[in-house]
Amino acid sequence: MSGTDEIMTKQLTLNEKAIEDWTFRKANTHEHIHGIHPYPARMIPQIARKLIKIYSKPDDIVLDPFCGSGSVLAEANMLGRRAIGIDINPLAVLIAKVKVTPINPSKLEHCLSWINKKLKEPINPKIPKFFNLKYWFKEKTIEELSILREILSQIEDRNIRDFFYVCFSKTVIDVSLCRNKEYKLYRMPEEEIEKFNPETFKEFEENAKKAIKGMKEHCGRTSLVMLGDSRYLPLKDKSIDIIVTSPPYGDSKTTVAYGQFSRYPALWIGFDEKFVRSIDKISLGGGKRTKLSFHSETLDAVLAEIEKRNERRAKDVESYFADLGKCIMEFSRVLKPNGHACIVIGNRTVSRVKIPTDRIIVEIGKEFNLEHVKTFYREIPTKKIPWANAPENIAGLKCETIKNESIIILRLIRD
Ligand SMILES: C[S@@+](CC[C@H](N)C(=O)[O-])C[C@H]1O[C@@H](n2cnc3c(N)ncnc32)[C@H](O)[C@@H]1O
Repeated sequence: MSGTDEIMTKQLTLNEKAIEDWTFRKANTHEHIHGIHPYPARMIPQIARKLIKIYSKPDDIVLDPFCGSGSVLAEANMLGRRAIGIDINPLAVLIAKVKVTPINPSKLEHCLSWINKKLKEPINPKIPKFFNLKYWFKEKTIEELSILREILSQIEDRNIRDFFYVCFSKTVIDVSLCRNKEYKLYRMPEEEIEKFNPETFKEFEENAKKAIKGMKEHCGRTSLVMLGDSRYLPLKDKSIDIIVTSPPYGDSKTTVAYGQFSRYPALWIGFDEKFVRSIDKISLGGGKRTKLSFHSETLDAVLAEIEKRNERRAKDVESYFADLGKCIMEFSRVLKPNGHACIVIGNRTVSRVKIPTDRIIVEIGKEFNLEHVKTFYREIPTKKIPWANAPENIAGLKCETIKNESIIILRLIRD
């Protein structure tokens, strides 16, 4: 049996009933405030809800150290828990913060009328100067987005301004020349660009109205959301009751590029250009090559197998797991004894070697006093990244992308 076969056979077989329990095939994943802004690899709210209900109680502190657009935080608040979210991407932090900040909808409606009135007045906006701006937006769109941005910057109330910046961010995505329904930056083909004439102000108004509708269903609780790096959690030891999270499934070069997805909305909102362009490099597995600080038998076998095919890719995978290991060590430090860490992850393939990330996480957890309670499995009913890709750029050599996810439950056994 080859190393790869051995790894494959070691993987747990999917239990049909378990898949059904966690797939939520027909669930509305955009209900309440969840639909205000798209975000790659969002955790579906129903999973967060079920995990929080099973493994925590009212008033507990729920941490999501990779909070993205804040699905876990919003669900924690709806269930009467306190929540803390951390993410390395400032656009994600903004979206999450807006989702967990209740604002009186009539104030938002009033502000939207004010914005619409301002849009009818003459204005000479400052046109931004980002690199490649004209490649991604038509001239007319640049002018209209500049006008909107100028008006939004005049909103005095910080929470209301941030709310409308999120609506603006979604509008930037809608009116850009980026190919639809994909999270990486690819430009539309020329013939499509010619026919594409978005109405920026109309798009913005529709996005704002939808978001205000979501705010009408807000539960009224709020969470703490911070920009940060979960390899170094800014939290006290034993301060967290439960972690519910979904880390990136691999490095940004070959899985989801959160920074790329966020680049133009973040630049239009006014985040620092140098930082925005560095997000994918500073994210998990994106930066300097790092060595493992733990031992995992399964990971060793996987790395040896990938190395035979592509040394460079083996080093990328090692860096990603070294970073993930640092985060899991931090989970162990901040969790209270007996607290649970619920981690949603997909097993991906690199150089045609399937990586059992779920099994590796269980082995890393063991190194840091986190015992394995159980793993649930689910199918991913819809997704925006292609079902098959060609990461090695060899014509005809396609590789299956992730169709199932594992929900790993660990428990801290210290003290
Ligand atoms: C799978 S997404 C989380 C999606 C989120 N659950 C949601 O529903 O929107 C993973 C997130 O991890 C973030 N991330 C990557 N490296 C990080 C790090 N070192 N520290 C904190 N966040 C990081 C990415 O920016 C991304 O938002």
